[in-house]
Amino acid sequence: MLTGLLLFHSLLRYIILVLLLVTIFKSFSGWFGKKNYLPGDKKVSLFTFISAHTQLILGLLLYFISPNVASKADMGTAMKDPIARFWTIEHVFMMVLAIILITLGYMLTKRAKTDKGKHMRTAIFYLLALLVIFLAIPWPWAKVARGWLPGM
Ligand code: HEM
Repeated sequence: MLTGLLLFHSLLRYIILVLLLVTIFKSFSGWFGKKNYLPGDKKVSLFTFISAHTQLILGLLLYFISPNVASKADMGTAMKDPIARFWTIEHVFMMVLAIILITLGYMLTKRAKTDKGKHMRTAIFYLLALLVIFLAIPWPWAKVARGWLPGM
């Protein structure tokens, strides 16, 4: 169960990163190129939104079964260990923040009155989310590192 979830969670990161990049590119080019906000723009930002929420559910499931996440009783000790602290607090906190940014971006874009406003809101919120996600991924070069995929 843990292995399967971890593999899915790990793979989904690449899908989210690609979708975020496409959405951000389209919204900046729509904003600065003064383009109309088209159904394709909405579709790609919706796919990003859905993937991020799927990742949130997978992450929450992992959080409850992962041996790397400290229990409430061990919180004090976990705070002193950078690896336990990363999995128990930092990764979750930053990823939830990023998913909130994506959700806000998606909702505020819906409410914007002009096409420029729609492109601008998506561009800003999704770019901020991308930065946070990028920083919270345990890349092979990060302080708390993992392979490109589990077991690699
Ligand atoms: C866009 C959001 C997220 C991305 C891109 C992401 C990415 C990752 C990556 C790349 C790994 C390492 C997988 C591996 O070992 O190869 C991981 C592990 C993990 N993530 Fe996330 N994550 C996200 C959101 C979340 C959230 C919201 C939670 C919790 C609520 C969470 C909890 C965990 C846990 C518990 C682990 C694994 C710990 C272990 O190996 O035992 N993640 N995540």
